[in-house]
Amino acid sequence: MLINKSKILITGSSGKLGKACKKIMPQAQFSTRNEIDLQNLNSIKKYFKKNKVETIIHLAAITSIPFCEENKKKAYDINVNGTRNLIKEALNAEVKHFIYVSTACVFPGNNDNIMEDEDSIPYPKHFYGLTKLLAEEIVKSFNSDKMKTTVIRTNFTSMPWEYPKAFTDRYGTYLFAQGVAKGLKDVVIFKPNNPIIHICGSRKISMYEYAKAGGSDVLPINLSEYNGPPLTQNMCLTSKYWKLYKLEDSDYNDE
Ligand SMILES: NC(=O)c1ccc[n+]([C@@H]2O[C@H](COP(=O)([O-])OP(=O)(O)OC[C@H]3O[C@@H](n4cnc5c(N)ncnc54)[C@H](OP(=O)(O)O)[C@@H]3O)[C@@H](O)[C@H]2O)c1
Repeated sequence: MLINKSKILITGSSGKLGKACKKIMPQAQFSTRNEIDLQNLNSIKKYFKKNKVETIIHLAAITSIPFCEENKKKAYDINVNGTRNLIKEALNAEVKHFIYVSTACVFPGNNDNIMEDEDSIPYPKHFYGLTKLLAEEIVKSFNSDKMKTTVIRTNFTSMPWEYPKAFTDRYGTYLFAQGVAKGLKDVVIFKPNNPIIHICGSRKISMYEYAKAGGSDVLPINLSEYNGPPLTQNMCLTSKYWKLYKLEDSDYNDE
């Protein structure tokens, strides 16, 4: 399918995934918070007045779990109301495909053996996960013949690993940010039918293995040595409706 790459808008351009998307989709439009502030409806209207957009990949959000817990109003205003502001104006601006990037954190991550697919029932453990789930529902409610919507759930972080240690008994089907960006490009091109798509790796690995695979020099730790707020144990996603990606193919040196 023919896509006009210069009519793709990616929000949250200064973030980890935004930077990776710049490498994979360099011709797209990338908005900063100065251009589109999700809390400022006028900035959104102004952007669409100035720029023709056909596809949006909405990344901008408050992503820190502790920050969301401590600043619930702000997190709600940006992640939930901000997404509503953006999608309403996208529809007015005749955007054809709205892609919303959500997270594996809509699931509780308690069960060691589970692989959550697109039909699994979400049940977030924290306020960040709740804001992302609420925004998912808003996005899905806008799906129509005029504007297609796709919710993406994924799990990644940027490398190098930001801590000295990584857990050997916390798991995910992680990708690197650039691998997620490649998956998003596939979604732009191939427009999945299912309203929710998981972009995830094909292999269940521990955080320790993930950090090592990202070239980080970390030490192992396990949950029995940890003393702090409750943590998720297993954030493995799988997909019924999309291909699974190989972590090895998603590193950041291949473009
Ligand atoms: N990182 C992960 O592990 C992970 C995993 C799964 C899904 N996700 C999802 O993927 C998306 C991107 O994550 P990320 O890790 O790249 O995020 P990030 O590094 O925390 O970056 C967040 C981006 O959102 C922007 N932003 C925040 N508040 C804004 C506002 N009011 N108006 C406009 N822009 C605003 C930030 O701009 P400033 O630089 O101006 O603050 C920044 O560009 C998020 O939706 C997140 O929920 C992340």
